[in-house]
Amino acid sequence: MKTQVLHWLISYLLFGCVAYSAAADGRLKVHHLGGDYSMVRFVPKDTYLLLPIQESASESKMELIVSGQALQTLNVRLAVDTVDYFVPVELTNYQGKELVFSFGRVSPTAPLSSPHSKWICWEEMTLSDRFDTSNREKHRPAYHFTPAWGWMNDPNGMVYKDGVYHYFYQYNPYGSVWGNMHWGHATSKDLVHWEHQPVALAPDALGAIFSGSCVVDKENTAGFGKDAIIAFYTSAGSKQTQSMAYSLDNGRTFTKYAGNPILTAKVPDFRDPKVIWHEGAKRWIMVLAVGQEMQFYSSANLKEWTYESSFGEGQGVHAGVWECPDLFELPVKGTKESRWVLICNINPGGPFGGSATQYFVGTFDGKQFVNEEPSETKWMDYGRDHYATVTWSNAPDNRRIAIAWMSNWDYANQVPTSQYRSATSVPRELGLYRADGHTYMSSTPVPELAALRGAVEKKGSLRVHGTSNPLLLPDNGGCYEMVVKFRAGSAKQMEMTLLNAQGEQVVMRYDLPTRRFIMDRRESGITDFSPRFAGATSAPVAQQKEYTLRLLVDRSSIEAFDSEGKLVMTNLVFPNSPYDRIQFRAEGGSFTVTALDIYPLIIQ
Ligand code: FRU
Repeated sequence: MKTQVLHWLISYLLFGCVAYSAAADGRLKVHHLGGDYSMVRFVPKDTYLLLPIQESASESKMELIVSGQALQTLNVRLAVDTVDYFVPVELTNYQGKELVFSFGRVSPTAPLSSPHSKWICWEEMTLSDRFDTSNREKHRPAYHFTPAWGWMNDPNGMVYKDGVYHYFYQYNPYGSVWGNMHWGHATSKDLVHWEHQPVALAPDALGAIFSGSCVVDKENTAGFGKDAIIAFYTSAGSKQTQSMAYSLDNGRTFTKYAGNPILTAKVPDFRDPKVIWHEGAKRWIMVLAVGQEMQFYSSANLKEWTYESSFGEGQGVHAGVWECPDLFELPVKGTKESRWVLICNINPGGPFGGSATQYFVGTFDGKQFVNEEPSETKWMDYGRDHYATVTWSNAPDNRRIAIAWMSNWDYANQVPTSQYRSATSVPRELGLYRADGHTYMSSTPVPELAALRGAVEKKGSLRVHGTSNPLLLPDNGGCYEMVVKFRAGSAKQMEMTLLNAQGEQVVMRYDLPTRRFIMDRRESGITDFSPRFAGATSAPVAQQKEYTLRLLVDRSSIEAFDSEGKLVMTNLVFPNSPYDRIQFRAEGGSFTVTALDIYPLIIQ
């Protein structure tokens, strides 16, 4: 009791405080200076300060202050009346130092639900040497990358170097909704097994770290060192500007360039730098998303950039802002030609609402991109959950490998998970092919994924007339691949449904008269977290004798492909239990399932 009084007295003298909260963790001294500002003081001997988070609470601005200097500023949704989960603030760099964490409003006019002293976060906040990252989510995919905790959106800065695929991503380690953008980091030797790495880039005084790209500077053009990995990202502060950082230890740590920002503009949307080497022009090229156009810049040293041209007006879809560009050259299958592809993610304005990836095919001479088919809009994936797609830089054997964020801005912050939010698509190999005089991009899952296949169960062939009896799928927790071949016969509709014992189902259908493949997730399970989630998506399919449908199912996602990557559709689903059976239905006649091969997918 005596010490309590003494603490209060000291606090009063130090802070002139009006209230004092007893933290359950006696090492934390909590002082409330009015209803909207609090300070937590302690000298850490532990690895983490665990912050209790309530997602529905409004954000507080948290500053970590050491010797009067604010070293870190973050926004956190501190728990007001219930704790959804904890997030860790790492303290390893501050051991034995006196720390002050201050919590205030994000802006002077930000709403305040109740005075700080009434919030439960102060009792729940604790110091610990452990932060439990073991999985608590039944919908967490097994073979798609997810952050161990926290929010993820766009893939960033993917680069291959010395046998390792680096994957960076838009990351909030302090909550499972968007905010505090960092670059998270993971690595893989085979594009299948991913290892979590420490955060690569954290916000600084220039702003949060938005999307961007990496290159390997083989000729040391920037002067940071031969073979440095150089990251380009958008510093999102009061304005969006472009910055760079370099790594001399193969991506383990990055140093921000002292001359940042390297490119500024007056416009509000100026972001997501993609940097490539253009062999013809012998220059580095940066593509930037600027409002509803892409701008091209060139440079010899990666630090000074010259504006070359813009692309966009009158091209493709403009129902939203253009984001996350990519630019690369690909051979056209079956010809000696090649073409340049400009990837242009757009939000909103996707074919089924919200975010999606459109692309343009044409030429790029190091200065200007020319779209060969200005009258056609091309989509890379016809699902709802394929966004911010970009490709690996420096991939071996001229491979062009893309990965997408498997969500949609329409509901990404509301999907029914909370320990983490969002997964990536499987990595996909890109190509170009011609059909009816048009040039399109194909995407197929990278062949490395075949390593996950367990023993195949062959259930074909069967003739479908009306509705077939349900067939049971291997019990593998909802992680499987399926290759199904349909021979059309007299049917107008060839339908295949994945379902579970509760009757939750995803209906897939070839609508032969309109030549479309449809995936309907209206009855797929949990759909009520957003009015925009339930619905169906459809993609064009060419008429064929036999249709191949390859599905990659991973607890909460379905990626559909044909055998050549011409049909691509990615959709999220949240069944209450895994879909463990399959049913066929014919309408207007019959059809034959000539093959039904099911592989449990097992990650080891
Ligand atoms: C796309 C995007 C990017 C931006 C990032 C911020 O999803 O809006 O344009 O850099 O997300 O997290």
